[in-house]
Amino acid sequence: MSAATDSAFQICINPDCRSTFSVDDTLVACPECGSLLDIGYDWDRLPVPSSLSELEARWSNRRNPLDFSGVWRFRQLLPFASDEQIVTIGEGQTILRASDSVSKYIGLNGANALLQYEGLNPSGSFKDNGMTAASTHARMVGAKFAACASTGNTSASLAIYSSAAQLFRVVVFVGSGKIAFGKLSQALDYGAHTLQIQGDFDDALKQVRDVCQREKIYLCNRVNPFRLEGQKTIMFRVLEALAWEVPDWIVVPGGNLGNSSAFGKAFAELKQLGLIDRVPRLAVINAAGANTLSQLYNNQSLRWNEGRTDDELINGYFAEMDAAGHRANTLASAIEINRPVNLKKCLRALDTCDGVVREVPDDAILDAKAQIGAGGFGCEPASAASVAGAKLLREEGVIAPSDRVVCILTGHQLKDPDATVGYHQSSPGQIADKLASRGIQAVQFPNAPQAVENDLDRILDVIRSFNA
Ligand code: F0G
Repeated sequence: MSAATDSAFQICINPDCRSTFSVDDTLVACPECGSLLDIGYDWDRLPVPSSLSELEARWSNRRNPLDFSGVWRFRQLLPFASDEQIVTIGEGQTILRASDSVSKYIGLNGANALLQYEGLNPSGSFKDNGMTAASTHARMVGAKFAACASTGNTSASLAIYSSAAQLFRVVVFVGSGKIAFGKLSQALDYGAHTLQIQGDFDDALKQVRDVCQREKIYLCNRVNPFRLEGQKTIMFRVLEALAWEVPDWIVVPGGNLGNSSAFGKAFAELKQLGLIDRVPRLAVINAAGANTLSQLYNNQSLRWNEGRTDDELINGYFAEMDAAGHRANTLASAIEINRPVNLKKCLRALDTCDGVVREVPDDAILDAKAQIGAGGFGCEPASAASVAGAKLLREEGVIAPSDRVVCILTGHQLKDPDATVGYHQSSPGQIADKLASRGIQAVQFPNAPQAVENDLDRILDVIRSFNA
């Protein structure tokens, strides 16, 4: 074990186990009890900053790629690798921007809606925050071949790290017909071997886990605890943008529940280190067509319970789902997931952050996406679940108009242009058909292109009509 990493370890999240392992081991579950693993730190032996603003000094050193990175400039708060081991491609140059119009849509005062735009990452989604950390760990353990299952963004991210770093080859597993073309095109262009499994994400994940175990391939799905370490930095950047003031709410879409889990861990650690004095509340938003968390949390009262979760309840829910042949089904394809692998860590985050869970239907997601777009941010459908969820919570009175609400926009609009074009074009198409099949006849904010003859006078007529 290297000197830089001897204060970091992997630790089982099960309170009755708590086995620890070296960060130089390649594990995706606790070998003792099968539970998820965390990365833990012996903070007393580490040079922790005395205040968060101390980290700003790194801004002046942006020629160092580690300080340029929006993930690694916070490396004192995820210290599992030595500087020489870190794999970075300049991820995390993302922004938090207030939006008057989105605030109004949600029902918040002034510009209290703050949009954290993770679409600005190199591969166009928040996944790069985690993949830089997993790639670093892959390098630490000398992996030559890595794999993941994906609804599209994880595969694009893993593929870009593989092609940029040239340290390992990659195979990605995607469900057939279950991936937006923008994302599939990325994996192909970045040179990843791409397997389309007959089935959905849940099927692809099961296969990739078995394949990785048999062939000793490095698994990059979010059972990989290192990815969540990188994703903590989304919250560090949010705090940084707010001059280290903690907002009232963080609202995030929930799919595999990696982000929500990572955010909870980030705040728990900052609080433990005395770097913040309170944690924000967390809202995790499912699509109604992929609502396992919402069902278990709200209807069956599943809770973290200090790590002693009711596994019978969880297993019974999945067994019933399988018996009924129930599959996830939403136009927000990135979160079309019924077996979220980080379920228990998310329950812990909800416990840490006095959290709530909601589900929103596809039309609410797409309308919110159009409002986000009109407010100057392009995001993919899954991302807009955050704004749709904030609106619902505001209507319920759970969020107050005076609250400062950070909505995480997880992926870029160009990831899924079909969804955007389908929404705005009134003519029947894939999206309109899919909406109709869900009983949604009309969307609220369509902005269809206007057909006009190739004639100056006609064009001028149309343009003048805009001012009428
Ligand atoms: N938003 C986007 C754009 C995503 O791609 C994903 C997950 C999520 C939200 C859900 O995040 O898992 O942290 O709850 N996409 C994964 C993938 C599953 O394979 O790209 P989560």
